[in-house]
Amino acid sequence: MHTDPADYIRQTIRSVPNWPKPGVTFRDITPVLQDPQSFRVLIDLFVYRYMRQRLDLIAGIDARGFIVGSVLAYELNLGFIPVRKKGKLPYQTVVEDYSLEYGNASVEIHTDSVRPGQRVLLIDDLIATGGTMVAASRLLQRLGANTVEAAAIIDLPDLGGSQAVKDAGLPVYTVCTYH
Ligand code: PRP
Ligand code: ADE
Ligand code: MG
Repeated sequence: MHTDPADYIRQTIRSVPNWPKPGVTFRDITPVLQDPQSFRVLIDLFVYRYMRQRLDLIAGIDARGFIVGSVLAYELNLGFIPVRKKGKLPYQTVVEDYSLEYGNASVEIHTDSVRPGQRVLLIDDLIATGGTMVAASRLLQRLGANTVEAAAIIDLPDLGGSQAVKDAGLPVYTVCTYH
């Protein structure tokens, strides 16, 4: 591979116009996951960034954040906690409501998923309005976690989400950007 790893990932992502509704261009990561080389390049970008950050846990956001988050947790020898869409977790939870580019939703986590002071990386595939990431970070904050960074493959900066996450006090890392 002769291209920059982040460029390679960006070139492998598929853009689908007018999905799931007119005016939205959907940034589809499935070609990255499907190709063994790009999947490995992607995970390795995150591994090298976070391998010396003394993390305790990876929190992945339902559903696409589970794919990268769980593999990253395994590679870094860390535990994985799912931030799930509402109504899926069986034990006691905390819940946060939010809005996103094409609707409203709620996320929740188990109350015993993190101990106060634990260093957590929050990860998802994409930041659009930032609603999902900010809601997830609030959940972790309510449980007393130390969320070290919000990571995603893709940033859509024109929707203001990564700025909103930073305004909420969380550093942001994304592999690539679409305007
Ligand atoms: C998408 C994407 C992010 C979120 C970003 O998830 O995977 O999680 O939207 O949008 P935001 O920054 O405006 O909150 P979605 O809820 O569509 O579903 P999925 O991950 O379950 O496919
Ligand atoms: N989630 C929110 N906006 C999105 C987009 N444009 N592409 C993929 N996932 C998204
Ligand atoms: Mg999602």
